[in-house]
Amino acid sequence: MADGATPRLVPRSHDDYACQAGAAAGLVSLSENDVYPAALPAGSHFSFGCPGIVGTLSVGGTVVLVEGPTPPNASPSSNASGSPSRRWRSGTSSTVRSADTPSRESSGAAGPTAPSCARLPPNAPVRPSGPGPVQEAPPLTADDNPIGWDTSAAAGAYRDRDMRLAEQLIFPGVLRRLAGGSRPDPLALDIGCGTGAVAAQLARTGAWTVQALDPSADMLGIARSDRPHPRVSYRLFDGRTLDWLADDSVDAAVCCLVYCTDPDDGRLAALTAEIRRVLRPGAPYLLADLNPAATGVAFSTLRHGEPEAVYDDGDTVPTLLRLRDGTTMTSATYYRSLDRYRSFLTEAGFPSPAIDLPTLPADGTVTEAAAETRTAPYMLLTTHA
Ligand SMILES: C[S@@+](CC[C@H](N)C(=O)[O-])C[C@H]1O[C@@H](n2cnc3c(N)ncnc32)[C@H](O)[C@@H]1O
Repeated sequence: MADGATPRLVPRSHDDYACQAGAAAGLVSLSENDVYPAALPAGSHFSFGCPGIVGTLSVGGTVVLVEGPTPPNASPSSNASGSPSRRWRSGTSSTVRSADTPSRESSGAAGPTAPSCARLPPNAPVRPSGPGPVQEAPPLTADDNPIGWDTSAAAGAYRDRDMRLAEQLIFPGVLRRLAGGSRPDPLALDIGCGTGAVAAQLARTGAWTVQALDPSADMLGIARSDRPHPRVSYRLFDGRTLDWLADDSVDAAVCCLVYCTDPDDGRLAALTAEIRRVLRPGAPYLLADLNPAATGVAFSTLRHGEPEAVYDDGDTVPTLLRLRDGTTMTSATYYRSLDRYRSFLTEAGFPSPAIDLPTLPADGTVTEAAAETRTAPYMLLTTHA
């Protein structure tokens, strides 16, 4: 406020604050792996909720109250032997650096990730931040026996996956496309919600009530325990029918990394038609999946398909996912060309989708050698009912 100016009071409800912090957290892809150093006064608008302290705690991240904004206080400290899976956030920057705070999840703690808040000692030893873990990834190597997606082993392993690429390349695009709906209390479906990552992010924006559906009871069990949210209801379904939902009753549908895990074209065609039926006219359907043009490319956290191999629609594709402890999970996915994805949509009555192929910027946050700076690991198809 300029000297002598009259202070202006802007009335805000708690919902307004929650919405702002949640939307800001979504835009910069904050997750439970992040550490937010609150260096500016905690009561200031910026550090309080843009996404700041509230946004970080709302996604299960860690807030560190530091003594002041100058180094060394506001830099990552080396106070533990912990895991490399924590990201150190500063303000709204999306810079990814390593921090030594041990991850609750990788330390084996069970149950929901509770928000935490720690105080950094005033003269804590400071270590220059090292290269982000995405740069350090060793080569992915396959197991001989891929895990089937409908098994409890797959659900358990998927819980521990390294989500950084999906967090940076899928979730922000989904949240951006679903921002700004005008209907009161809109309903979104997260179809094939798995362990609930997308559903929870959507609910945390404060804008959506979410029905999160999956045919795997094991995945849903993990979602309910790791990502409970008052705006999310998790529900077992058959992967095909949405018969408890009326025609034109849903405001948005999201389906992330699901078609690639289901070998049954007939089931996916029926599911897509059901999604079209329940969406209100004009409501968005966002289908995110593995980019079929990226088979065989070794990304830092995944590789779907063997290098040099050529796949046809329906082929089984050995797929490696990196887990947070650095080991890999080998599963099977099912190749479908972009044309096949388009036909699922158009045969169900959707218009041909807009196609996004996001890559990471080669701006120093990841090494320029990382394949994800050149090739999109995922695609995001957007269409409307
Ligand atoms: C790779 S996981 C993705 C989970 C979550 N969407 C995410 O992005 O983290 C695939 C999920 O799709 C589910 N799935 C497989 N076939 C499905 C179908 N026909 N309909 C809905 N979900 C399905 C699996 O049970 C599994 O939970």
